[in-house]
Amino acid sequence: MFDAESYVRPFVLDEAGLTLRVLDQRKLPDEETWIEPRDVEAVAVAIEDLYVRGAPAIACVAALGLAVCVRAFDDEPLRFRAQLEQACVRLSNTRPTAVNLFVALREIREAIAALPADADAATMRAVVMSTAKAHAEGDLVSCLAMAGHGAPLLPDDGAVLTHCNAGALATAGYGTALGVLRRGRELGKRYTVLADETRPVLQGARLTAWELQHDGVPVEVIADNMAGALMAAGEIKAAVVGADRIARNGDVANKIGTFTVAVLCKHHGIPFYVAAPWTTIDLSLPSGDEIPIEQRKPTEVMCHGGKQLTPAGVGVRNPAFDVTPAALITKIITETGAYDPQEIAAAASERG
Ligand code: MRU
Repeated sequence: MFDAESYVRPFVLDEAGLTLRVLDQRKLPDEETWIEPRDVEAVAVAIEDLYVRGAPAIACVAALGLAVCVRAFDDEPLRFRAQLEQACVRLSNTRPTAVNLFVALREIREAIAALPADADAATMRAVVMSTAKAHAEGDLVSCLAMAGHGAPLLPDDGAVLTHCNAGALATAGYGTALGVLRRGRELGKRYTVLADETRPVLQGARLTAWELQHDGVPVEVIADNMAGALMAAGEIKAAVVGADRIARNGDVANKIGTFTVAVLCKHHGIPFYVAAPWTTIDLSLPSGDEIPIEQRKPTEVMCHGGKQLTPAGVGVRNPAFDVTPAALITKIITETGAYDPQEIAAAASERG
């Protein structure tokens, strides 16, 4: 079913753990260019500037990038620990909304804190690497399991809408929302995927279209303002999206425009699914009101293809995410099953 060689992957760690290659998603679909960030600042910039994006992929690249970079940290254990902490702070300050990043960095900090106080730098380097690898491997396993829980919910035919890119490119591989959509097709369902282009950075038009075409899943791109008309015409049978952070009450932060899709689905009686691993669920936040929303630079909205579209002197806004209230969500699909959003907190307690 999953073949690591043939599916798209947004990053590759070499066997020896010396180099992390990161696919430059800003250049897709025109060019497949890979970068090799060699210090913490380069890893942070790759995340801030969207070379790599998507909640789980950001976390994996931060963790694995850090694991590669600690090779150059000081051999003196106290100085090593101080440099590691400084690096974690820098990486934490890249993108505020996707909680997976903070989960991965916390796992590394906790693994180091659990070592004896006199642990040497070599031991700490090995622990950072094994923790980062476990995070990335766990993400891929979660995506595959999520697909199994989500695919049976999808219609047999018609069109299924997705927003942004919650695919292999946004994870350690296979994807969350796109993993569910891939699996449905692998099971013989005949739907077409409709990809919202996803202004302003066009993750749908560029990335979702590219990776689904790569994997032979039929996909068509629509402008973000077309979904309502296609729902009214009866073409769209379901919507599946990813998430950057899910609060305790089931409210979901995802790419700006997701809320609009959910409202349209509610109006038309169309199921609206969110697929996300447990690492995206932040039980510390009571509701979506507490989720920090990243504000990105205005030029992403003002300019296209290097040309400014808006009149000089006119302000623009660029919130990168919105919050969809739990009441608009049919199911949250995780690696342990598909839940009513209001059941998430109870399901978390059962998981322990
Ligand atoms: O700004 P981005 O491209 O990082 O936003 C990505 C999304 O909103 C995705 O839908 C989300 O991270 C889920 S990815 C599996």
